[in-house]
Amino acid sequence: MKNIYHKVPNIVNVFILTILSLGWTVNAINFPGVPNNYNINDKIPILVNSLVSSNTAFPYDYYNEHFGFCQPEGGPTAKKESLGSILFGDRLYDSPFDIYMLKNDTCQSQCKGNVTIDEVNAKFINERILEQYNVRWIVDNIPAARSMLTDDGKVLYSEGFELGLIDEAGKPAINNHFDIQIEYHINNGRYRIVGVLVWPYSIKNIDRANNCANIDSAEHQYLSETEPTTFSYTFNVIWTQSPVAWVTRWDHYIYNPDVETHWFSLINSFIIALMLTGMVAMIIIRTLRKDIIRYNRMDLEDQQDEYGWKLVHGDVFRAPFHRMWLSVLLGNGVQSLLMCIVTLCFAVLGFLSPASRGSIPTVMLLFYLLFSCFSGYISARMYKVQGGEGYKRNAIFTAFLFPGAILVFYLFLNMFMIANDSSAAIPFGTLILILSIWTLVSIPLCFIGAFIGFRKGTISIPVRTNQIPRQVPDQPFYLRFIPSSLIGGILPFGAIFIEVFYIMNSIIFHHIYSIFSFLFLGFLILIVTCAEISILICYFRLCSEDYRWWWHSFVTSGSCAFYIFLYSILYYYTKLSFDSFSSTVLYFGFSIIFCSFFFIIAGTIGFFATFWFLKKIYNSIKID
Ligand SMILES: *[C@@H]1O[C@H](CO)[C@@H](O)[C@H](O)[C@H]1NC(C)=O
Ligand SMILES: *[C@@H]1O[C@H](CO)[C@@H](O)[C@H](O)[C@H]1NC(C)=O
Repeated sequence: MKNIYHKVPNIVNVFILTILSLGWTVNAINFPGVPNNYNINDKIPILVNSLVSSNTAFPYDYYNEHFGFCQPEGGPTAKKESLGSILFGDRLYDSPFDIYMLKNDTCQSQCKGNVTIDEVNAKFINERILEQYNVRWIVDNIPAARSMLTDDGKVLYSEGFELGLIDEAGKPAINNHFDIQIEYHINNGRYRIVGVLVWPYSIKNIDRANNCANIDSAEHQYLSETEPTTFSYTFNVIWTQSPVAWVTRWDHYIYNPDVETHWFSLINSFIIALMLTGMVAMIIIRTLRKDIIRYNRMDLEDQQDEYGWKLVHGDVFRAPFHRMWLSVLLGNGVQSLLMCIVTLCFAVLGFLSPASRGSIPTVMLLFYLLFSCFSGYISARMYKVQGGEGYKRNAIFTAFLFPGAILVFYLFLNMFMIANDSSAAIPFGTLILILSIWTLVSIPLCFIGAFIGFRKGTISIPVRTNQIPRQVPDQPFYLRFIPSSLIGGILPFGAIFIEVFYIMNSIIFHHIYSIFSFLFLGFLILIVTCAEISILICYFRLCSEDYRWWWHSFVTSGSCAFYIFLYSILYYYTKLSFDSFSSTVLYFGFSIIFCSFFFIIAGTIGFFATFWFLKKIYNSIKID
């Protein structure tokens, strides 16, 4: 049996894995952790998270003093969170709600007595209501949600509920009464929570004497901006039994819009990749083969009518200008590429379920910091093959330059968060933690990698470089540096942009993103298209005797980041309605960070593919 299994070719295994992972997503099965079992009358804590809005880029702390929400006795205590969830602006605290398993309650008070909001805070809250901020609670590790119907008639639990409502006249009113419906499932006599829904209401003078019976009839509770307003916060609790089993409780929360469109676009990019592969294969098999046979035969006769890519064999591996920067970018590109691949593998296998909040950014950050050993190693080897000698400078630049630039830029954006009193501003302790992992682990690893890289022999190059550089003839317009790189970026962009769209949607509109197998396949297609387009365009340029490929192969595929940035501008104008300058700055700031990573990742793929290709073809011709 074992023997037979070993005979199954690898490619089949990969195929089976892919199909399996597709099956996983369609059923949205994740490794959901261990369920909490409750007994009747157990206290169920409600945790509160920061308030978010898709009209701004700023989350606010639930206990920001402007909101005046009721606090637990002795003040709120913060809950431990993962690094990634802190970076994404989550701030969890406990809350004063008294809720007990299977105990229906009506007209409970959230606070001791009434709440008074003064004019200044009223103005702040009213602005947040007009910006459509959402309150986020977490019960038994799932978010409290509004229930809504999607376009195709499915029930969707959309995380969070409105801070307030906007009446017909456009006036904001605060939601001060909540119907909290908690769905439970009975498993062998044990009670488990499988869904939490909230219906918020804005009610002036709620009829507490009559069990809050006037929910639907009463006037809204407005907050006056000229005098203090006093009102009360109340809630009802309704427990309902649900057939949903605990393992599938996230299914309602996961928004998988238009799976068909998604499939369609994936198949589309797949076809693009296939066509490109066809073209590359054709070149390699037909043209190149013919070229090689002819070159090798011609060697015997006369050297006079050489043409095409063989002509430049004495220059093709001539080190480019700024080889230091190129090696630094390549090192960092490999580091980021590995981080993406490993994170995606974990995600596809279901290890990063939405139940562990912030696990994806956490895992990404940690892998990024760990993989700096590869960045040092690759950077050193690429620097060496280009004949560089400033080894120490190379290692230092690799370790500090790119991550340092991103960090400084991030801290600059962070100032906007601080200025807006937003909870997404990075806490000092977290910053220190990240800085110390970086300096104590990441940078030493990078130096070790660089050391090993330098100790290794130089990568062997199949042809010798001439002393005197050859003149590059005038190139047709479409083969010049910038036009041909821009042409190169279009296809990889086409392969990935729909995934970028879904990721942006899920970050900005706070949907739970879980379609990792699509993302994984999209990423594979991206890798293939980047590699092929770089090879293809490099081949055309070599044929027209332009041998300057080092930077060009990097920028050709890397330029798809430029298109993604253009796309983010389009997205800003068509999908977003940010109302403040600082939100806009943050949006474009984070777009730039994202696109920089994209640039070096895609560029690195293109570069190494081309490097491999050139070594192969120049290896196959005879040169004396
Ligand atoms: C709570 O109230 C709801 C709606 O009134 C009812 O369907 C449910 O059975 C009640 N649950 C309990 C445990 O009494
Ligand atoms: C709370 O406010 C209501 C009016 O909104 C008032 O009737 C009630 O007496 C107040 N309760 C307390 C404890 O101040």
